[in-house]
Amino acid sequence: MTDALAEALAAALGPGAVLTDPADRARYEQGWRYGKGVARCVVRPRSTAEIAAALRLCREHGARVIAQGANTGLVAASTPDPSGTMVVLSLDRHDRTIEVDRAGRSVLADGGVRLSQLNAALAPHGLWFPVDLGADPQIGGMVATNTGGTRLLRYGDVRKNLLGLEVVLGDGRVLSLLHALRKNNTGLDARQLFTGTAGLFGVVSRAVLQVAPLPQQRAAALVACRDGAAVLGLLQALEDGLGELLEAFEVIGESALRPVFVHHPELRAPFRELPPYAVLVGLATALPAGLLDLDAVLQARLQAHLEAAGPAVPDAVFGDGAEFWAIRHRVSESLRAEGESLAFDVGLPRAALPAFTAAVAELLRASFPGVRLCDYGHWGDGGTHLVLVLGGPGGPEGAAAGTAAALQERVYELAVRGFGGSFSAEHGVGPHNQRSYDLYTDPVVKDLCRALSWCCDPARLLGTARLW
Ligand code: LAC
Ligand code: ZN
Repeated sequence: MTDALAEALAAALGPGAVLTDPADRARYEQGWRYGKGVARCVVRPRSTAEIAAALRLCREHGARVIAQGANTGLVAASTPDPSGTMVVLSLDRHDRTIEVDRAGRSVLADGGVRLSQLNAALAPHGLWFPVDLGADPQIGGMVATNTGGTRLLRYGDVRKNLLGLEVVLGDGRVLSLLHALRKNNTGLDARQLFTGTAGLFGVVSRAVLQVAPLPQQRAAALVACRDGAAVLGLLQALEDGLGELLEAFEVIGESALRPVFVHHPELRAPFRELPPYAVLVGLATALPAGLLDLDAVLQARLQAHLEAAGPAVPDAVFGDGAEFWAIRHRVSESLRAEGESLAFDVGLPRAALPAFTAAVAELLRASFPGVRLCDYGHWGDGGTHLVLVLGGPGGPEGAAAGTAAALQERVYELAVRGFGGSFSAEHGVGPHNQRSYDLYTDPVVKDLCRALSWCCDPARLLGTARLW
C-alpha cells in the first residue's frame, strides 16, 4: 500500500531519505532500554532546510513526529508510539558539519553528529567535549535530553556548555540562536526552552558547544568506604584538598558491584573483599607531568584521608583508570542481567544520599520483602541510580505489575517529597517517567509549557512526552 506522505517526503528529500520497509524501520522503533513502537515511516533529512521541509509536509498530512538522535536515551522519549501513525525524524544523516573555533574554544556541530565523532574532530585541536556517558549519543539528542553523565561534577551538564542553538519548530520555522557568546544578557534565554524538553517544542538541528582543553594527565583510584557517611566525608576531603582537579566521584554499592564480576568474569575485582561502597575517584589536569605529578597528588591526598578516617575508609587501590572505568560502565548492564528490575535516576541534596538510601532499604524490608536494592551513581552531583531487583532468588515470583507500580510510587514519593529530591536527575523526561512528571511538576510550569507549545508547535506534532 502506498503512503502519500512517504511519497511526498521522498519527492522532497530524495528516495534514500525515507524508510518504509519494516526491517529498515526496526532499529528506529526500539529504544536502547525503554520505548518500543511502530513508525509510519522514517525520514532522514541531511540539513536544517530538509528538517523544515519534512516537518511542513508532516503537518500538511496531519502526521505526528518523533525526532530521534542515536536512540540511546533512557526515558523512552525517542521512539514512536504503537499507533503506526507517527513519523520518526532521524537526524542520523545530518552529521556533516563540525566547525571548530579554536580562539573561541567552541564548536558548531550538526544535530546528528555523534559524541565520539565530535571528540575525534576536536582532539587534533587539543580540545574535547567532556560530557561523558556510557553511550554514544548525537548532539541534538544530548541537548533535547540535557544529558548529565559522569563528569558533571567538574564540567556541568549540556545546558551549562551550550552556547548557541538552531531549532526547527513544529510549524517549520527555523529559530536561529547560533551564536558562540559566553556573555549574552539580553532578556529571555530561549535556548533553554529546547534543552531538556524532549523535543516537544522543536527539533535541535545545530548547536554551538563550549569545549575544554584536553587533559594532559589523568589519575584514578578506587576507594573502599564503610558506609554512606564515609563516602560523603571522602567527597568533602577531596573537594577541599584538590579543588578543580577532581573530575569524577562515582560511587558503587557492593550490591551493584558484585554482579559486574559475575557477568564480566574478564574484569578483575580490585579488592579481596568487596567493601560496602567503592568510590571511583578521577582527577584530570591540563598541566603536563613536569609541572604537576598528578598520580603523586592523588596518592598523597588519599593517604592523608585514609589515615584521618581510619576504619571508615579502609583501603584505596591506585591504578589504571581505564580498568576502573570499564568496571563502572558495566554496572548498569550487569544489573539488567540480574533479572526483572526497576531502575531509578534520582537527584538529591548530597547530604541526604545516605539517609535516602537507608529509607529505601527500610521500605523494602518492611513492605517488599525479597526485593534487592542495588545502588550506584554520581554522588558528587547528588545523583543516585537505584536498581531494585524484583526477581531472582528470594524475590517475589514474576513480580506482579501492581507490586512494581506500588514500589515505584513509594520510592519516588520518598525521593521527591521525603527528601526534597528530583524524579529524574539526568535522564530527562519522557513516557517512561511521565507519571512522576504529572505528579510532581508545578501546575504553573505545565501552564508555561502549554503556552510555549501553542507558540512553537501549534498543531502539536512533536514528541511523545506530555509536559502540560
Ligand atoms: C549510568 C547511567 C544509567 O550512570 O546513567 O550508568
Ligand atoms: Zn547515570
